[in-house]
Amino acid sequence: MEVVIVPDAAAGGELIAGAIAGLLARKPEALLGVATGSTPLPVYRALAARVASGAVDASRARICQLDEYVGLPAGHPESYHAVLLRQVLEPLGIDESSFMGPDGSAEDVAAACRAYDAALTAAGGVDLQLLGIGTDGHIGFNEPCSSLASRTRIKTLTEQTRLDNARFFGDDIEQVPHHVITQGIGTILDARHLVLLATGEGKAEAVAQTVEGPLAAVVPASALQLHPHATVVVDEAAASKLK
Ligand code: F6R
Repeated sequence: MEVVIVPDAAAGGELIAGAIAGLLARKPEALLGVATGSTPLPVYRALAARVASGAVDASRARICQLDEYVGLPAGHPESYHAVLLRQVLEPLGIDESSFMGPDGSAEDVAAACRAYDAALTAAGGVDLQLLGIGTDGHIGFNEPCSSLASRTRIKTLTEQTRLDNARFFGDDIEQVPHHVITQGIGTILDARHLVLLATGEGKAEAVAQTVEGPLAAVVPASALQLHPHATVVVDEAAASKLK
């Protein structure tokens, strides 16, 4: 695992945008796995600036979701599908037909999860998966004690994660869904390059456990220790508990 410490979130965004730009130069139709939440926003902003200036052409890239809420009404602005259309596809000039995600409104959720794993494989696998990390060490929505071999499946969000996400639902935890579909840890590990970005002091303990703690299901992000090409980008605050 490679750990890169950057001064701040904006520098982390630039660094990762540069890695994605390099990938797209080598492979314009690369499949990029994207995350939601606050952490990846500097990456998306930095990439959008490169696209706007003509330095990067992302128009042939393909995008896939890491996770999706279950049970939000179609078109809900906080569904991760809608969020990623706004934050990634539109600014990068990528057509919605190049966007893959699990169907959070499927009647048969288990079948939708299997179909998503199969679709990722059929698409040739994820070239670069961008990850955030939860304060409890989750990646995707694989909460502590998720199986390190898990595949895409439905999960129940912890109270802490629902509280963390209430800010996207008018600070009303009652509006935050209880369930999500998430790529499993095994699914995430199938990507050819994992890039985890962590910023802010609130992530420092989770980062220390991920990088320096034992490989343990209680810290799902520690599974990155198993991956042959994992890059952890942390700002100084998130690095503050590394030895
Ligand atoms: C979101 C996701 C989550 C977040 C994590 C951190 O698609 O998979 O694992 O990356 O909850 O969220 P932020 O970045 O908002 O602190």
